[in-house]
Order: sequence, then C-alpha cells, then structure tokens
Amino acid sequence: MLEKVKEVVEKVNKFIPKSEEELNNFRIEYLGKKGFLNDLFISFREVTNDQKKEFGATINNLKQLVQSKIEEHKDSFEVEAESSEIDLTRNVPLDNLGSRHPISLIRNEIVEIFNRIGFTVSEGPEIEDDWHNFSALNTPKEHPARDMQDTFFIQTNPDILLRSHTSTVQVRYMNENKPPIRTLSPGRVYRNEAISARAHCIFHQVEGLYIDESVSFADLKQCLLYFAKEMFGEKTKIRLRPSYFPFTEPSAEVDVSCNICSGKGCNVCKNTGYLEILGCGMVDPNVLENCGIDSKKYSGFAFGMGIERIAMLKYGVNDLRLFFENDVRFLKQFSLL
Ligand code: PHE
Repeated sequence: MLEKVKEVVEKVNKFIPKSEEELNNFRIEYLGKKGFLNDLFISFREVTNDQKKEFGATINNLKQLVQSKIEEHKDSFEVEAESSEIDLTRNVPLDNLGSRHPISLIRNEIVEIFNRIGFTVSEGPEIEDDWHNFSALNTPKEHPARDMQDTFFIQTNPDILLRSHTSTVQVRYMNENKPPIRTLSPGRVYRNEAISARAHCIFHQVEGLYIDESVSFADLKQCLLYFAKEMFGEKTKIRLRPSYFPFTEPSAEVDVSCNICSGKGCNVCKNTGYLEILGCGMVDPNVLENCGIDSKKYSGFAFGMGIERIAMLKYGVNDLRLFFENDVRFLKQFSLL
C-alpha cells in the first residue's frame, strides 16, 4: 500500500496542468468525495497499529502536496483570464436583443404567402421618371388621375420624381421579361400627404402582377381570397367594390371581413363589418402594349396594398405614425413574433 502511495506522490509532483479544466479534474481526482485521498483515509482504518504512524504521515503529505499544487496553478489561470481582453466563452445576457420591425414582419409574411403560389419578388429604384410612374401606366401628362397620388417631383426636373407606388417596378419587369409573369414588388413609396394617424408621406406597399394567356377576373378574385384567408384566418371573407385606377379595367377595391368583430360591426370597421385592404383590377391593354406585351394574346391582373394598413389591422395598431417613430417600447412588443 505504501508503495502505491509513493508512486502517486511522484505523479502529483510531476503534474503541470495545461488548463483550468485540467486543474479542476485533478482536484476532483484527489480531493473529491470519491477521490483518491478519501479512499486512502478509509483504508487507513485497516492498517496495523505499527504502520499507522508512517502511513498517516504519508497520506497527510500527499494531501498537502495536492493542495499546494492546486494553489500554485489556480492563480496562474486567473491571471491569464484577466489579462485577455475579450472572453469569447462568457455567457451573453439574452434580455436585450433587437427585434424585427413590424413592417418587415408583415412584408415577409405577404411575400411568403404569394411565394407559395408562384410569385417572386422584384425590386426597383425609389427615384423614378415620369414614364415608369405615370405615362406607361396609362396616365399621360395632364391626365386628371395623376392627382390621385400627390407626387413629389424634383423641382429642377419635373420628369424625375419619388415613386408614388411600386407599380413602377412592374413596368420595368414587363419590359424585361416575357409572360407568364408572376411578380411581387414590395417597397417604400412617397406621397405628399399630411402626416396623421392614418397617413404618412412615406409608406410601404406590396404590388402584385400576374400575366398569362386567358387570365380572368375570377383568377384575381380567387387569388385575393386565398391571400386574405392566409393573412387574417380561414374564416375571412372578401368583398369587391367597383373602383377606378387608370392602369386597370375593370378596377375594384377589396375589403376583408373585420378580424376584430368577425363582421358583426365594431368601431374599427365603423360598424360596416368590413375593412378596406387593397386596390386591384385587370391590367389595361394600353399598359401591356406600353410595356411590349401583346394585349391580344395576353391578359393579366394587378393589385396593390399598403403594408402599414395591413400591419395596423393585424396587430390592432391605431396610429400609423408609431411605425416610423421607432420607440423601442413599441418595437419590443414584436420581439417574439
Ligand atoms: N398602384 C395603386 C396605388 O398605389 C394600387 C393598385 C395596384 C391598384 C394595382 C390596382 C392595381 O394606389
């Protein structure tokens, strides 16, 4: 037995830990509850009286040796940890993470819903020319429908403007691609409107365009019903009201059944049971021709919606300005979505 202990003493003497972890394992191996020294103390009881003195002293020496080894090396690791500037292993508190902006969340959700039925995203510039924002879209100069979107023009060059809708991207897309076309254009748009709880001079839109042979108004209606159900729930109903846009004929505005009162009538839907969410229609043949698409062979539908409007309805937000102020108390509410 004494022989074995002497061997261990030698091993301990030679021990030089390379890491804090190694030192910790060393401590457990010798001083832990089930460690080597505890075992020795237990076998000490069986040792004959004449050997007790020598055996006892050896055990105590070993214990001291182990302790001084730990003491000696513990400090060196502490110093090392302090001296390194960045501790990559340190836990990071997870209570102050950023979150996605609600406008991005809704944008992504809309894109995902239309992705599932084959629409892909296209993007374009925010500073546009008259042709892409108006003329190509069947709204030539002096056309009264230009007043529907109060536009920011560049003073020194009235041909240049801030796009008032993302239909501009669809004009570009039709110029560059042949039907069948299924594209979705999300983006920021600008209109000279007084800022209020319901309007802003900057806001976000998603517009969609589908062009193929024999696309009908029934396709448009079914596509929008699918979208409304995916966005607001399976029980959602839609209602189309005749409307006017220069680039579509016929045109319609689309309402969804109020997701707050389920159509019974409340102050959000002003007791009508319905909420307006988008404009749509069959693409005017003039627009197709302006963009190099044969209007005798192809037909299509288009729709456009405001992302802020959808976000307000979905999250029950009653002031559009909140989306632009970026108050973290407001934004944090969306961190788990
Ligand atoms: N571009 C229209 C707007 O911004 C929306 C729209 C798009 C309407 C496509 C009909 C078809 O108001």
